[in-house]
Amino acid sequence: MDLYGFLLRHVLFRLDAEATHEFILSCLSRPRLWSFLGKRVFGSPPQNIPLSLFGLQFRNPVGLAAGMDKNGIALRSWEKLGFGFAEIGTVTAVPQLGNPRPRLFRFPELGALVNRMGFNNEGAYPLALRMETLRESGQWPTIPIGINIGKSKITPLESAHTDYLESFRLLHAHGDYFVLNISSPNTPGLRSLQSIEPLAKILGTLRDWEGSPSKPLLIKIAPDLDSENLIAIAKLCEQERLAGIIATNTTLDHSSISSSRDEIGGLSGQPLQQRSNTVIRQLREITQLPIIGSGGIFTGADALAKFEAGANLVQIYTGFVYRGPALIREICSLPPRSFFV
Ligand SMILES: Cc1cc2nc3c(=O)[nH]c(=O)nc-3n(C[C@H](O)[C@H](O)[C@H](O)COP(=O)(O)O)c2cc1C
Repeated sequence: MDLYGFLLRHVLFRLDAEATHEFILSCLSRPRLWSFLGKRVFGSPPQNIPLSLFGLQFRNPVGLAAGMDKNGIALRSWEKLGFGFAEIGTVTAVPQLGNPRPRLFRFPELGALVNRMGFNNEGAYPLALRMETLRESGQWPTIPIGINIGKSKITPLESAHTDYLESFRLLHAHGDYFVLNISSPNTPGLRSLQSIEPLAKILGTLRDWEGSPSKPLLIKIAPDLDSENLIAIAKLCEQERLAGIIATNTTLDHSSISSSRDEIGGLSGQPLQQRSNTVIRQLREITQLPIIGSGGIFTGADALAKFEAGANLVQIYTGFVYRGPALIREICSLPPRSFFV
């Protein structure tokens, strides 16, 4: 067991899940503090596997999934930990507190988490200011930074397009790519935006506002869509010339958890893995658009299954919580032919 694994099991897992998350993130937001511990805790960086996708250069195909750094406070640390790209957010136009605590739950025996955070974030404007300051300081990361945008809870679903546009405009200069999160289960009605009519309206609204230079735009979908929905979404993404699709967000299928221990929210981690792979495989059969695979990656072999299903890049969240940066190194040590299947 590496030092991260030891600390996790014997110290961090004894604390409340969200308090642990906040503690780690606050350490990571002070790069000087943790770079002192750096290699001793996190080990050496992964090998480079350079690749380019939707006009961006990635030093490896392993990204940080959205939700870990909602306010972009640890931007300088993700590349130091070895990630090939990092996605921050979900950020909303209006700052919001999210759902009442507790709202994050560990299921170590399943390799899973359940969360009902509800897009707790400081809002798009403070994030834009923070990013501007970082850019001006000359310390901007060298890896691609994606910004994941969601709908503010107070905005009615009919006005979702204007709400997404507001965040997109405020942050346009700062993200290397953007993701529309229409698949979180923790904002009432959000997943209904995966229907073609509202989604087309949001995409059309963003396209009509011509940010310059234009930035790659992706959508992030739920694992709980049926094949008909998937086909319709993939077609629309092609028509709208989106840069790609992130598959998938957390699931509402809690059949792997015993009802006495269950919690309301999105389930992530190992129980999601097969379903996410199925969605990626189905998408790959119907489209050539780039796919970022997310859901239940805990080992190099799990990442390989995503690449074989058709993913071009992968993202990790729950596996990163349970395994730390060793997981990035393990994925990057797969044989080179694993990556460009
Ligand atoms: C605590 C937590 C918070 C999350 N927050 C977000 C979020 O704000 N936006 C988003 O698009 N996905 C969010 N996700 C979903 C992850 O980005 C990821 O897509 C999902 O958990 C599946 O990957 P995993 O099994 O590696 O965790 C969150 C996941 C967790 C566990």
